[in-house]
Amino acid sequence: MLSDGKLQTEKRAGKLANLRAALQANPRSADGIGIGHTRWATHGAPTDGNAHPHVDEMNRVAVVHNGIIENFAQLRMELEERGCKFRSETDTEVVAHMLSEQLTEHNGDLGAAMRPVCRRLEGAFTLVAISEDDPGLVVAARRNSPLVVGRGNGENFLASDVAAFIAHTRDAIELGQDQVVTITADSHSITDFDGNPSEGKEFRVMWDAAAAEKGGYPSFMEKEIHEQPAAIDQTLMGRLDTAGRLVLDELNIDESVLRSVDKIVVVACGTAYHSGLVAKYAIEHWCRIPTEVELAHEFRYRDPIVNEKTLVVSLSQSGETMDTIMAVRHAREQGAKTVAICNTNGSTIPRESDAVIYTHAGPEIAVASTKAFLSQIAAAYLLGLYLAQLRGNKFADEVADILAELNTMGAKIQQVLDGAAEIKAFGTSMADATSVLFLGRHVGFPVALEGALKLKEIAYIHAEGFAAGELKHGPIALIEPGQPVFVVVPSRRGRDSLHAKIVSNIQEIRARGAVTICIAEEGDEAVTPYADHVIRVPQSPTLLAPLLTTVPLQLFACAMAEAKGYDVDQPRNLAKSVTVE
Ligand code: M6R
Repeated sequence: MLSDGKLQTEKRAGKLANLRAALQANPRSADGIGIGHTRWATHGAPTDGNAHPHVDEMNRVAVVHNGIIENFAQLRMELEERGCKFRSETDTEVVAHMLSEQLTEHNGDLGAAMRPVCRRLEGAFTLVAISEDDPGLVVAARRNSPLVVGRGNGENFLASDVAAFIAHTRDAIELGQDQVVTITADSHSITDFDGNPSEGKEFRVMWDAAAAEKGGYPSFMEKEIHEQPAAIDQTLMGRLDTAGRLVLDELNIDESVLRSVDKIVVVACGTAYHSGLVAKYAIEHWCRIPTEVELAHEFRYRDPIVNEKTLVVSLSQSGETMDTIMAVRHAREQGAKTVAICNTNGSTIPRESDAVIYTHAGPEIAVASTKAFLSQIAAAYLLGLYLAQLRGNKFADEVADILAELNTMGAKIQQVLDGAAEIKAFGTSMADATSVLFLGRHVGFPVALEGALKLKEIAYIHAEGFAAGELKHGPIALIEPGQPVFVVVPSRRGRDSLHAKIVSNIQEIRARGAVTICIAEEGDEAVTPYADHVIRVPQSPTLLAPLLTTVPLQLFACAMAEAKGYDVDQPRNLAKSVTVE
């Protein structure tokens, strides 16, 4: 921050609370501008010295940086040859020293200094800088990394994501690639890296400011779990025309192109990848189009077979996951059409895709993704149904029937949530478990993977998800007396063989001492004799069941993390948007 025109820096490794305590111990008055960043360490250990901001040797300019500067070693060597002394092991510090040199060249004009610095950088970066030479302004720049401007009344903001400022303003400007923006309290100006005047794209954030508050819940994660009925309703809202046909207005890809698609490839990471795995079952069933689901960071490195007849569907809450961005770019280079299913307006993935279906789940603040997962499944189902309708795989009335079922899911999720206290109490009682396994079949398999991921990321417990049929091929060796195993039980009203097989699996593991926790439909008594604990979900068609069976697993992970005293919303080592490859 600037305090009486002087640059003052305070930074701490670890939680924000550490920084807050340091500032309370050494309070300073700010002149009205400041920058800060919670950095996910990429170069050097997460220490106070490597934390952001970084300053030049004269303490004249400070900078924060999101991303990775790939040519930092070369730049650092050049600066050291000119006598520059480095204080950290980060890639970012080169920018502070380069800005300082350019400030001298440009008579203290920070905007003018930023441009030549950016031209020399390779990699991905959002940079935000302030300097003593230009005390009323903040200068920022972006390449391959997110940056939005929030335009308030007598105040302006810069952030990676609109959620950071919606409590103050909903008017935003999305910056384009390779742009520099300069803001003061009441103005902004944008140029490209060569100084040519440029424009961003103005938009209004539709998210409610209250969405960025916990609203009485102990964590954002728990609040977001409870927002899932509304999130699903929002995703599905307004998708039927007056003739009862499914419409996807955003899908502005020529119908003849969509009819000629002969393969779908879904690319995503983490939880979004699991929603893609669920969607595959529905899309193939409804559209009869072969569908592959690929981890985005693996996709382009295996030289995938992708051409003009391939539809590449990316799934991303943030729209800023670098691995997914790179997969989308690769797909486009190969001539594929790309559709983004995304929760964040104006983010990079939708911008770089041919079309976008927004999930409208509202901001997801907790690192552990919950409502985004369910709304991604719902949006991918809309896409599948739309393609089935367009290509004649399903009649309009069949599509309408499935949509009607989908529209009941919000209320059914609410029924599961009505039992949240009991599920959480069960999670709390299991807090001493050191390993939990998850089994599922068909769409229950990705649900098992997701249940395990939730537990790993927030409760730091060894957890694995398996396809139940795979048990006998190896994982059953893990079962020893007392091993907790969640089993996602498919509806017996669907394919009976699936249900019967999983009941056998439950017996097999129980015989070896497992503690079985079954997530089963109301009325399914076949599992009762073999379950140590049953969590009931309302009845639903097989393909829609993941919208229900995931919810108890989210609540369970949340309860375990709370019981262990962990920070549910900000688990260690993880960032909400992974903007580096
Ligand atoms: O923003 P995205 O959906 O692209 O993020 C993808 C993953 O990083 C994300 O789902 C991550 O796995 C979550 N932390 C899981 O809860």
